[in-house]
Amino acid sequence: MYDLTVIIPTFNEEANIRKIVIEVDEVLSKSSLNGEILVVDDNSPDGTIGIVNELKKAKTNVSLLVRTSDHGLSQSVADGFLHASSEVFVVIDADFSHPPSIIPKMYEEIRAGTDVVIGSRYMEGGGIRKWPLKRRVISLGATFLGRVLFPDITDPVSGFFAVRKSVVTQAQLKPRGYKILLEVLGKGVWENDKEIPFEFSDREIGASKLKIKTIIEYAQQVLNITLYSFSHHQSAAWREWKKVFKFGLVGVSGIIVNLAILQLLLMSGISGYIALFFAIAISILNNFLWNDLWTFKTSPKRSVTSIWRRLGFFYVISAGGAAINYGIAILLVQVIGMNIFLSDLIGILIGFTWNFLVNRRITWGRT
Ligand code: GDD
Ligand code: MN
Repeated sequence: MYDLTVIIPTFNEEANIRKIVIEVDEVLSKSSLNGEILVVDDNSPDGTIGIVNELKKAKTNVSLLVRTSDHGLSQSVADGFLHASSEVFVVIDADFSHPPSIIPKMYEEIRAGTDVVIGSRYMEGGGIRKWPLKRRVISLGATFLGRVLFPDITDPVSGFFAVRKSVVTQAQLKPRGYKILLEVLGKGVWENDKEIPFEFSDREIGASKLKIKTIIEYAQQVLNITLYSFSHHQSAAWREWKKVFKFGLVGVSGIIVNLAILQLLLMSGISGYIALFFAIAISILNNFLWNDLWTFKTSPKRSVTSIWRRLGFFYVISAGGAAINYGIAILLVQVIGMNIFLSDLIGILIGFTWNFLVNRRITWGRT
């Protein structure tokens, strides 16, 4: 039995495949890991298959899966999960965009109890080399959308990651497009993850196969994972949605507190503007307490930062949310002449989104 399986999806990689297999093999032996190298090829018309067959003769730990239907990167990786003969899977590109030297570290993390280990381009220490502006923009857009589902993960669409077999065995994956990791995160069964920074370097040889269709498929995938999370309540995306619902409910409680305090203060003879100020300030305090003790009660920040610090962040971010609400409402009324209530409602929704996302990341984010 192998310690791990390194899955390398390929399509027309005759220029890279020999070198990447040899390098991965070397990295594994240097760390005394007994690893299987599984190349999953989509029946490349170039020399890829021939080269891997040749490598197989010299190295017993190299295997090849040639697929002839349902062409695609994500599908190939998912097929690799089914054919791997170990309990730990690492996925890596063939074109040297991902440094194989990190594989042992990923494996160690899984051994230490982490379910998903992600090679991240977007955390401190990570980066991207030699990417044209267009690709950077597309990638940032995709990453942002992915982070709405998994706010703690800086690179939910990375092509370089490791998973424990049990994460994907029971998952009803619907692999499409390029972002198999997002599918694994959205539908796999996992509790904890860890990111390791790496520098992505674009391929030297051959061409990227990313097309416009890939982007459309990605948007469909995000929607599909969202819908899946609504019917599968054990999924990680559902854990996030639950926070959104709770945050919303707390927001509603804040409105009630706000109005009640306003009424109370006015009745006790305090003047209008002063009463309003305290009503708002106290309702934000109300929201903070509920969110801290309920919505985000599992946040690791709660045990390492003081409550005053979190409260301070919450007030500043909420003030930003109010400013966004106000600005958007005025803009809609002024520029397109929208009804003021509808404008306000849209402002509230965008302000709410801001409040949730920013507080989720900063006030109650990862440490
Ligand atoms: N089996 C199979 N089938 N493999 C494929 C296919 C396919 O249809 N398309 C691409 N591959 C293989 C390539 O041979 C390579 O090993 C790897 O998948 C990545 O393909 P590239 O075409 O080089 O992808 P990229 O550089 O544009 O995209 C990379 O970055 C993305 C993040 O921005 C990849 O790492 C993606 O996985 C990643 O999501
Ligand atoms: Mn590439």
